[in-house]
Amino acid sequence: MKNHIHLPDISLYLQDEGQGDPILFVHGFPLDHTMWKRQISVLSATYRCLAVDLRGFGKSTATNGTVTMEQMADDLAALLDKLEITQPVILCGLSMGGYVAWQFWERHRNKLARLILCDTRAIADTDKARADRLITADKVEAEGTSQLAEAMLPKMYAKSTQHQQPDLIENTRKTILESSPTGVAAAARGMAARPDVTKWLPAITVPVLLLTGEHDSISTVDEMAEINRMLPKSKHVVIDNAGHMAPQEQPQATNRAILDFLSED
Ligand code: MLT
Repeated sequence: MKNHIHLPDISLYLQDEGQGDPILFVHGFPLDHTMWKRQISVLSATYRCLAVDLRGFGKSTATNGTVTMEQMADDLAALLDKLEITQPVILCGLSMGGYVAWQFWERHRNKLARLILCDTRAIADTDKARADRLITADKVEAEGTSQLAEAMLPKMYAKSTQHQQPDLIENTRKTILESSPTGVAAAARGMAARPDVTKWLPAITVPVLLLTGEHDSISTVDEMAEINRMLPKSKHVVIDNAGHMAPQEQPQATNRAILDFLSED
């Protein structure tokens, strides 16, 4: 079932499938909930899969200026309240979805049972990366998202995926081209403003699964192994033959890792 969920200042678009313990899926930049299609089709047999379009993405409302990771985390908490979900959720975020997940832990940890963090980072942007993002934000607002799509797609997927799954790349291109320039720019500014959360890691006591595509060049295996070392209750699974979009590129291996993790105490 897909629906607009109306919150006081915006509406968030949500796919809600299956019954059981809730998994809240949070997409990366500049995508939408459809990136989780290959997880939902399997996991909804045993879990309630909630896949949301973040503020500014997909069919959710876009707001001007800067949308911080904190704001997005607060939107997710408001969404759960609106759905009257009081049971702590399993939050599964990819990349920007992971940046939002750290903030959700910081601000709403009473609503959190476990974390699944795919291809994400704990550190903030360098000064250069921050400056580049702000330029990208202005450019997207002025010219639209097509240049961003061409710049990002080769970095998102492993070379083997680009050769073997051209339809997947085309679908993602379409998603990026259809994204709201206002929403994409606001999130880019929000990512530029995000803090380094490395110091939080030793205090995150919920169980955490870290997943990294073997060939991820944006959030590397080494960087996520370092996050794993600092978390008290985590495990790190490397997904072979995948890049930054491991859940899309290798859904079977990703789903197996998630189901194994969720079956552990
Ligand atoms: C993402 O996949 O969400 C982006 O690569 C995150 C980022 O640009 O830092």
